[in-house]
Amino acid sequence: MPQADVIIVGSGLASLMTAYRLYEHRNVMIFTKMKKEESNSWFAQGGVAAALSEQDDWRLHYEDTLIAGAYYNDERAVEILVQEGPKRLLELVEAGLQFDTDEDGQFHFGNEGAHSRRRILHAGGDQTGKAIVSFLLEKLREKVTIVEDERVIDLVVHNGRCIGVQTKKDVYYADAVVLSTGGCGNVYSFTTNAPTVTGDGIALAYRAGAIVSDMEFIQFHPTMLYVNGKAAGLISEAVRGEGAVLVTEDGKRVMEHVHPQQDLAPRDIVTRAIHAEMMKGHAVYLDISMIPNFRTRFPTISKLCEAHGVNIESGKLPVVPGAHFLMGGIQVDLWGKTSLPGLYAVGEAACTGVHGANRLASNSLLEGMVFGARLAEALRNEKQANFAYEKRPAAQPFTKPLPTVRQIQTVMMQHVGIVRDEASLTTAKQWFEQFSLPELVNADWTLFSEEEATVASMLITGWLITTSALKRTESRGGHYRLDYPQEEEHWKKRRIERTKHELVV
Ligand code: SIN
Repeated sequence: MPQADVIIVGSGLASLMTAYRLYEHRNVMIFTKMKKEESNSWFAQGGVAAALSEQDDWRLHYEDTLIAGAYYNDERAVEILVQEGPKRLLELVEAGLQFDTDEDGQFHFGNEGAHSRRRILHAGGDQTGKAIVSFLLEKLREKVTIVEDERVIDLVVHNGRCIGVQTKKDVYYADAVVLSTGGCGNVYSFTTNAPTVTGDGIALAYRAGAIVSDMEFIQFHPTMLYVNGKAAGLISEAVRGEGAVLVTEDGKRVMEHVHPQQDLAPRDIVTRAIHAEMMKGHAVYLDISMIPNFRTRFPTISKLCEAHGVNIESGKLPVVPGAHFLMGGIQVDLWGKTSLPGLYAVGEAACTGVHGANRLASNSLLEGMVFGARLAEALRNEKQANFAYEKRPAAQPFTKPLPTVRQIQTVMMQHVGIVRDEASLTTAKQWFEQFSLPELVNADWTLFSEEEATVASMLITGWLITTSALKRTESRGGHYRLDYPQEEEHWKKRRIERTKHELVV
């Protein structure tokens, strides 16, 4: 009977950090549905935010995180993030991880939206995620089993406890199962996310009966390269941090009268300003003409532009917003524990409440490091559960028709996107509900093809976003409703939590 002490699903930074801090104590096995590098973390450009410079203080980072999060954040989670973050980073540096430095050999701190100090550590210019993930993968080599190309299709739950995972090939048992599958950017047609990020962990947890919360809060990154009517890849906010500004085709500054921080306002605000210009028929560009040595500082973005025939020397990059980050997810406590015993979650898949209604730039790699380390500590100290392994009873196959990935993405982009209202959300809800979702949630997914499993995860996740957005009758952070355009005091501390059995507001 295949088993491990701890099974982690997903191979991004939060997963690897958990494994890195745990492998000496527990036997760890990681499953990933494709190759281990195909995570959002690998492609992260901007960097990691940490109050490490002499001009900085964790209290400033704390305040910036709350302002960006529209004061919806779990304040204790934020305190943990900004206080433990610098320690976790320096430990990795001590272990050999390298960040870019200035001519004096000191960290070079970049800037990004809504930060009151330059505090973004970066590596390889704009290849920060790749640098950190490859560093951790190297440390884990021969220490942890990483199973690639094997999708976890179901969680095994017995007597109210998660006791393992079901893949397409086998059932694997464990004392603890960790979901670290990232968010769900690909439920939208325009997304910065890696193609693997399709809400799988959220659907797994929801189907197993765990609580998911805050699903209405989706962050759209303001700047993806926009080519031939399609979003072609991320242009890091670090570019605006180095001085680039958003302009329309006639040179008008987009952010000038919108927010005191202008082009470095919180992401939700910049995104809506761009969206408003585009709705008026304007094209929006990033004016990068003032950035010296653009190719050296931003090699990945330069290659992306070249691959799409966009001339950097023109000084203007066409941009469009794209779905970037899910602030909600599988509800966890500050140690990664979900509402289902034996099941844990970490990284973007999890919802500690740390990001509030809108994540501060470069806080996500930091989240993975901090909460990955905490989860490892929790799992290290947890006594092994004593339970009988047992196969779960067979569920019914799902025989109803499924939509295509493209159809889901189009509905989400059109009706549950940057701005929403009751009519658009109701249209989307009705569309989702034609697909027999209660039956789908409880069906046997082992009979699905890879494509069908992806569609099924996206259906559940898209429906959760839509129906949560319909419930929240206010606008806050990444959730903006045309029919309720203000933040409402009575919503400030109210979470929309749901399990497959009930919805709690
Ligand atoms: C970016 O480089 O703009 C993305 C970084 C982040 O999401 O924090």
